[in-house]
Amino acid sequence: MKIFIVGGAGYIGSHMVKLAFLKGYDVITIDNLSTGHRDAVKYGKFEECDILDKEKLKKLFDKYTPELVIHFAAFSIVSESMNEPYKYYNNNVLGTLNLLKVMIDNNCKKIIFSSTAAVFGNPEYLPIDEKHIKRPINSYGKSKLMIEEILTDFEKAYGLRYVILRYFNACGHDKDGELIEKHNPETHLIPLIMQVVNGKREKIDIYGTNYNTEDGTCIRDYIHVEDLCEAHLKSIFYLNNMKNKSTDFNLGNSKGFSVLKVIETIKNVTNINFKVKESKSREGDPSILIASNKKAKEILDFVPKYDSIESIIKTVVNCKN
Ligand code: UFG
Repeated sequence: MKIFIVGGAGYIGSHMVKLAFLKGYDVITIDNLSTGHRDAVKYGKFEECDILDKEKLKKLFDKYTPELVIHFAAFSIVSESMNEPYKYYNNNVLGTLNLLKVMIDNNCKKIIFSSTAAVFGNPEYLPIDEKHIKRPINSYGKSKLMIEEILTDFEKAYGLRYVILRYFNACGHDKDGELIEKHNPETHLIPLIMQVVNGKREKIDIYGTNYNTEDGTCIRDYIHVEDLCEAHLKSIFYLNNMKNKSTDFNLGNSKGFSVLKVIETIKNVTNINFKVKESKSREGDPSILIASNKKAKEILDFVPKYDSIESIIKTVVNCKN
């Protein structure tokens, strides 16, 4: 089966390219390399293309005639989205709309769409299931929710079948040490702490210590990148069964860890003490996000292999890269 992995040069995308290729899919990565890395695409074919370039997208669909698209290509930094909403709506909404239109015109009617826990905003109850009200508090979450809504309309009008996967906090490294989490600039908690551990950064700032949580720091549900990719693979099987309806899944471990707990775990796993500083909270950060993965477990048979924060952090600490 021929699949397009759009945004396949990014952190999660490059892990997906590897997994899908090794499972025998004919994988073509499409990426504009704005945040992705060409050397992260180690398997299959590569085409440099921006999703805002509809003409080039058309040519690529014509050239390869893919049956399914996995769409990762998006800007995804919550804080940046608050300062640069145009950048987020332009790429994440307009670019995706282009992609969907070209798919429909080329009779490619299956898509796995990367969405986010950020569509929920501040939760009304925990863990957050798929029915939870969606009231994003940042432009990133809003841009993803817009596409979720567009997908439902496209299904009705054009028969486009979709699986929406809402990631909670993706993290961890590939077990072979071939792929890593590499963002420029880095804004994510675990890679930033590792920079401190490795002496590349002086200290780690804790963004906010007055949240309504046990220790006052934000709580997140950390999910290993390989577990996320397995869920995509299962979503391909799901969509290939034409009896299955379009749907959505929240992907996390259903466990929450505070910023302080993540710091403490890294100190324990590495046996290295480092400098930590309390700083003011970041705009657009919900206090607590924990997924219910019940639906993904029941329907996709999603079973996270890395189900403790220690096991996730060990994949990062033990990585030779
Ligand atoms: N944090 C710090 N110090 C840092 C960096 C982060 O205290 O130097 C805190 C943040 O405030 C947050 C937690 O650590 O509470 C995790 O922050 P990340 O930047 O690693 O991740 P986010 O929760 O902000 O966002 C990530 C993805 C988003 C996605 C979200 C869903 O980057 O795309 O998870 O939960 F929407």
